[in-house]
This record gives sequence, structure tokens and C-alpha cells, in this order.
Amino acid sequence: MIEVIQVSHGFEAQWGAIPERNLGERSGLSGKSPKGDTSFAQPQRLVLRNLNLTLTEHRIGIIGSNGSGKSTFARLLNGLLVPDRGRVQVEGLDTRQHAKAVRRRVGFVFQNPDHQIVFPTVEEDVAFGLKNLKLGRGEIQQRVTDILNRYGLLEHRHHPAHLLSGGQKQLLAIAAVLVMTPRMVVFDEPTTLLDLKNRNHIQQVLQRLEQPIVVVSHDLELLEDFDRVLVFDDGEVVMDAAPAIALPDYVQRMTVQPMPRS
Ligand SMILES: Nc1ncnc2c1ncn2[C@@H]1O[C@H](COP(=O)(O)OP(=O)(O)OP(=O)(O)O)[C@@H](O)[C@H]1O
Ligand SMILES: [Mg+2]
Repeated sequence: MIEVIQVSHGFEAQWGAIPERNLGERSGLSGKSPKGDTSFAQPQRLVLRNLNLTLTEHRIGIIGSNGSGKSTFARLLNGLLVPDRGRVQVEGLDTRQHAKAVRRRVGFVFQNPDHQIVFPTVEEDVAFGLKNLKLGRGEIQQRVTDILNRYGLLEHRHHPAHLLSGGQKQLLAIAAVLVMTPRMVVFDEPTTLLDLKNRNHIQQVLQRLEQPIVVVSHDLELLEDFDRVLVFDDGEVVMDAAPAIALPDYVQRMTVQPMPRS
């Protein structure tokens, strides 16, 4: 169970820092900021507001428009980010105080496997996390073989990871997370880069996972048989319901008005 309690989160608005010499050009004003600094104080842009959620369902989908805060929210769930206000608890552990234990419990699969795959060969990439767990060589070999076999990558075990296809890389990224036996897994857009066949393969993987999962996606069909869907809009959850209700509601919200003819 993950509890999200009164959580708000923002980022420094990077574009708040405008070098003095550019101020005149941009605003027509003198180049001095109010304090005479070389940059304005950087205001914080709040991208998540006042979220209160208890995540207990087996499969939870997260949808929302670009920039609505989905990835930020996903990163809060395993402590990759900690909230500015409020708290996130994973099985009672606060992500702020127990970052390591939380990351051990909640695996995170990034949208782009190239950001996650760091070791030269498929086998090394999967074995890396296990070495950190200080397991024996035999145990590591066994776990790596089992997981590569399960995800159809065994014949590639000695191949350079960067030469795998996009779908195989996505499977490798998933395998490298699952080999650590996390209790829950968060996926940020696991099918966005994939062709239909690989997308269907990942869908099957998600359907068969024993662990509870949270999946951020723009692929609405992927979430049709999920237990719960959260719709994000401008940092807030505007709908929290079964997919049969939440997905059509989201489609309606996203309806584009016809552009006026010029
Ligand atoms: N590290 C950061 N620094 C500054 N702003 C950030 C940072 N990360 C995200 N943001 C801002 O926070 C907002 C929400 O971003 P987020 O990545 O959570 O959106 P998203 O819903 O995942 O969008 P998408 O569907 O495009 O992936 C965006 O406006 C983004 O510019
Ligand atoms: Mg995102």
C-alpha cells in the first residue's frame, strides 16, 4: 500500500533566471533585477497540488495531458523525488526518511530504456542490482538466467545491450527491475516507444505480473482492464474511478475544438 498524504510538489522555474544583460532585450526595462542580482529569485512552479490518495489496487493506471504531473507523481512513489509538502508512505515507510528501503520495495521502469540500461551486456545489466544486494555468485547467476529466460532474452545474454531492438531494450529494463523482486512496480509510459507487437508483448507482461503495478500511459487501451485509473490535470487528480468511467471521461476532456479557418 502507498499512501500519498497532502502532497504538493514543485520545481524551480529555471526560466526565472534571466541574465542581467538579457533583461532589457526581453522586457524593454533596465537590466537590473529588483535586488541588483544577476538573476531574479527563482519562483517555484507547483506541478502537483494537495494530493490525497491511498493506492491499494493491484493495477492502477495514470493518465493526463502532457505536463499534467504524471511522471512527477510516479517518481514520488518510490522516493526518486520527495514532496515539498506532505508525505508519501510505502507500507508505512516515509520516502523521505527511508529512501533506500522504499526504493528496494518499489521498482521503477523509465519510459526510455536507454536511460536505464547502463552496462555493456544484457547479463551484466541485469546482474548489477543483485551484486549490490551482496548475493553469492551462484544465486546471482540463477536469478539472472531465470529472469532472462522469462523475458525471452536468454539467447542475448552476452550481447551488447545497446544493440537490442527497442522492444527488447524495454523488456531488459523491466527484467532488470523485476530481478530485484520489488513488492510493487511503477512504469512510466512503458509502451510509448514500441511497435504494435512489442506493445502487445509488454501488455501481456503487465497482465501477468504478480506484484501490484502503477502504470503511467497515454495508451488508453492498455489500461482498459485495470482496477483503477487516476486522471491528472494541471497537477491535480480530477477523476479517480474504474477505467470504464475514467477513460471516456478523459477522452471527452481532451476533445480538440476545430481550428478556425484563416
Ligand atoms: N526537473 C524539472 N525542473 C523543472 N520543471 C520540471 C522538472 N520536471 C518536470 N517539470 C515540470 O513539471 C511539469 C509536469 O511534468 P511531468 O514530467 O510530471 O509531466 P507529465 O504529465 O509526465 O507529462 P508527459 O505526458 O509529457 O510525460 C511540467 O510542466 C514540467 O515542465
Ligand atoms: Mg511524463
